[in-house]
Amino acid sequence: MKTRIKEIYKTMEYGPAPEDASEAIQFLKKYNNKFNLFINGKWVTPSSGEYYDSINPSTKEKLAQISEANEADVDKAVAAAKKALPKWVSIGAHQRARYLYALARQIQKHSRLFSVLESLDNGKPIRETRDIDIPIVVRHFYHHAGWAQLRDTELKDYKELGVIGQIIPWNFPLMMLSWKIAPAIAMGNTIVLKPAEATSLTALLFAEICQQIGLPNGVVNIITGHGSTGAAIVNHKDVSKIAFTGSTEVGKIIRRATAGTGKKLSLELGGKSPFIVFEDADLDSVVEGIVDAIWFNQGQVCCAGSRLLVQESIAEKLYKKIRARMENLRIGNALDKSIDIGAIVDDTQLKTIKEMVQLGVDEGSTLNQPSWACPTEGYYYPPTLFTDVSPSATIAQEEIFGPVLVAMSFRTHKEAVKLANNTRYGLACSIWTENINLALDIAPQIKAGVAWINCTNVFDAAAGFGGYRESGFGREGGKEGLMEYLKPRINNEFTDEPLPISINNLDTPNENGLPSLGIDRTTKMYIGGKQARPDGGYSTVINSVKGVYIGEVSKGNRKDIRNAVEAAHANNKWLDMTGHSRAQVLYYLAENLMIRREEFASRIVQMTNQNKSDALQEVDLSIERIYTYAALADKYDGHVHHTIHRNVTLAMPETLGVMGIICPDESPLLGFISTVIPAITMGNSVIVIPSEKLPFSATDFYQVLETSDVPAGTVNIVTGGKDELAQVLAKHDNVDAIWYFGNKEGCREIEFLSADNMKRTWVNYGKYRNWLDKAQGEGQEFLKHASQIKNIWIPYGA
Ligand code: NAI
Ligand code: MG
Repeated sequence: MKTRIKEIYKTMEYGPAPEDASEAIQFLKKYNNKFNLFINGKWVTPSSGEYYDSINPSTKEKLAQISEANEADVDKAVAAAKKALPKWVSIGAHQRARYLYALARQIQKHSRLFSVLESLDNGKPIRETRDIDIPIVVRHFYHHAGWAQLRDTELKDYKELGVIGQIIPWNFPLMMLSWKIAPAIAMGNTIVLKPAEATSLTALLFAEICQQIGLPNGVVNIITGHGSTGAAIVNHKDVSKIAFTGSTEVGKIIRRATAGTGKKLSLELGGKSPFIVFEDADLDSVVEGIVDAIWFNQGQVCCAGSRLLVQESIAEKLYKKIRARMENLRIGNALDKSIDIGAIVDDTQLKTIKEMVQLGVDEGSTLNQPSWACPTEGYYYPPTLFTDVSPSATIAQEEIFGPVLVAMSFRTHKEAVKLANNTRYGLACSIWTENINLALDIAPQIKAGVAWINCTNVFDAAAGFGGYRESGFGREGGKEGLMEYLKPRINNEFTDEPLPISINNLDTPNENGLPSLGIDRTTKMYIGGKQARPDGGYSTVINSVKGVYIGEVSKGNRKDIRNAVEAAHANNKWLDMTGHSRAQVLYYLAENLMIRREEFASRIVQMTNQNKSDALQEVDLSIERIYTYAALADKYDGHVHHTIHRNVTLAMPETLGVMGIICPDESPLLGFISTVIPAITMGNSVIVIPSEKLPFSATDFYQVLETSDVPAGTVNIVTGGKDELAQVLAKHDNVDAIWYFGNKEGCREIEFLSADNMKRTWVNYGKYRNWLDKAQGEGQEFLKHASQIKNIWIPYGA
């Protein structure tokens, strides 16, 4: 005994401290360890009659059998959600708020059961489920109970979407469920949700909670199954929106599958987030930050700080500290209260991690692992650090989704930013320095949806979370997250056909009392602030709506688009300007358009044979519209979110980058102005394809651009075949976003092709706006689609 005590003091070994699992086991037993589907408030056996096992990855023991839902089951669930919808909408904001509040209360009451069940099923440490996952779940329902209450006052210009399909991953099973369900039902939608195949149990316990609080049948349906079940939800015709979290690979499949259907989509995908350490950072805090960044949840975190970028002067010192910390981390059964790292979710994921690590070794990076060995009874993998990694190594580029940190060093701040952005992803970044000026200089330069300053992996219901680039689009949390479950009421007023224009019998503009405008030369394109001849050397004849020859425009091709994209990227001037300065340029544009008011009106008459007064109205509205965006340029701002942490969280709308804009065919000038101006107002540079049939208002506009101090490359105009050019833009890897106003097939094509690099798309699905109507043709909705929100977490009052 004596020696034992001495030994314990010497080794400082912890004994096991297992959390009691009896209540969770009891819950499973109540269902005979076999779960059916939760449809319309009842447990329903799956039509396939098939079940699969959910296991405990800490021990490989079988926990329960889970139903495999097929298309028929998905059909039933969607029908139940559809049937429940009208009543759920009509009971009103306050009643819905009460249900959300009841859900929050009930989960809180059973939080221990939820934590244990989650740890059993997923393998994540009980310390994390108890102190992080489940409290965040509860917080989400409380926060959104509030939004449910405020729905009709704060968001009255918006309407619910209908039946929402939600597909979630296995890394934060209940947390992801709450991020999806809480905002969706708070806004008046009904749900069909599919948990991940490996981790369905807490979702099924949540179903029971829905029954307990008397949530109306069909508002929430929980369907279990594999990828094919998910695909059946994605492809169901009565689903209005898909919210997905998971791999980028499946995200792309879903983008393509929903292309052109009009289903709204939010995708929260993979990442390879940089964790940047500057030489003046507090290194002991940094080490704890790294533990949270890459060993939290075994590194199976979409926003894991998996790329450590460290300033060269302190790199070796930091690596040494990390190695020492790794040695002290404890790994073991998820229910052990004193472990730091639990089990990997399943054998497939473990195999992936092992293969990636082997690849890292083969590619020549140096492997660092602790001296101790992992337990053998479950799926464990030790904390791992790779040093001597080349930025182009596979392990530096691909998501590993395991406890594997990949380290690289940098010398200058500029190099840090370059390395950080050297990825196709853009979910999060973490910046460590004691110098606030430096931190706030770096944060806006990193292309990521979340920036954590001297902290990492902090989440809250009040702040938006989501990615840039191939990390997907849309936000969860914050007011920005609610927008994913709403649509502007005005959308219902769009029409199936463009508004007819009234044409008169006059042949030429001067008969109309306007100056006559001959076009004797082929109009050129406008690229990088200069008029440019088309690469192919071809032109297209343009006739008026009455078939009278007006002139010829350049026929742009793939090469012209490439040049325009390059010119747009070369332009940093516009991006660097403040909202105020951009406003000044926009006012100047309006002023210069005003000077040429009659000329622009006469061009519209020449192309459309409208009455002079209608043409003048279109020009005047264009001028007014530019004023609107000049006004908004320094007023469309973000929020400071009230999160529960000691931070201020700045939600800043940021530029998307380089945008392709395919203008509507109607309203040759106003359609151009209404789309191009909001896009540049947010700081984007654009490649514009003007109306194919009526392009001359856009080509006349060069002169206005040239005289108004718009930096070269801000607006590039390529004329020619609309859909052909649009598709080149949609396929282009250096285009960040694309707006398309045209027919249904064109919309489908754009969304489908944009999946390759996950461009943000905004298309009209063959519905038409009346551009002359201010409510439909302008406003903040346009600016929203021209920007994305970055949430920056800054320590405050800490
Ligand atoms: P996954 O993307 O296949 O699975 C996520 C969810 O999508 C699951 O519910 C799955 O059943 C469902 N799903 C699969 N195929 C589908 C389809 N065609 N249509 C609709 N739903 C479908 O991810 P998986 O296979 O579990 O993990 C693979 C890799 O993905 C991981 O190694 C990791 O790199 C990444 N991943 C990223 C996550 C994130 O949060 N960003 C979460 C989970 C995985
Ligand atoms: Mg499991």
